[in-house]
Amino acid sequence: MSSQLFSPFSLGPLSLRNRIVVSPMCQCSAVEGNAMPWRRVHLGQLAQSGAGLLFIEATAVKAIGRITPGCLGLYSADNVAALRAALDDVRSFSDMPVGIQLGHAWRKASSAALGVCRT
Ligand SMILES: Cc1cc2nc3c(=O)[nH]c(=O)nc-3n(C[C@H](O)[C@H](O)[C@H](O)COP(=O)(O)O)c2cc1C
Repeated sequence: MSSQLFSPFSLGPLSLRNRIVVSPMCQCSAVEGNAMPWRRVHLGQLAQSGAGLLFIEATAVKAIGRITPGCLGLYSADNVAALRAALDDVRSFSDMPVGIQLGHAWRKASSAALGVCRT
């Protein structure tokens, strides 16, 4: 019996090789919203996992909307360039489709970094 989990899935123009999706997972490792070297390690190893789709963590659309100061952002040209460079590296080793969770933490935004932050 073939498993549906490992069967291809189409979502609009997107073709996924299977139905396994890697959840967005905050890494608390950004500086001023910029992706740092850990991003390449984190996304790079997940992009080798064989999942059908990989999501980039909750990414703030405004600096003030970050969950913590270590959150990834897409609110400045520097943020765009840093994430693009990280993704270009990941892309050179994997063609796994990558999504992103855009967000704004509103009243839950924080000025304090979590103890588990990795820079
Ligand atoms: C380290 C870590 C970071 C997470 N960051 C996010 C996030 O950025 N956005 C989100 O919606 N959920 C986040 N989550 C929740 C996961 O996406 C997922 O919903 C949760 O782990 C439950 O799924 P599971 O039962 O398969 O672990 C995070 C979870 C973990 C463990």
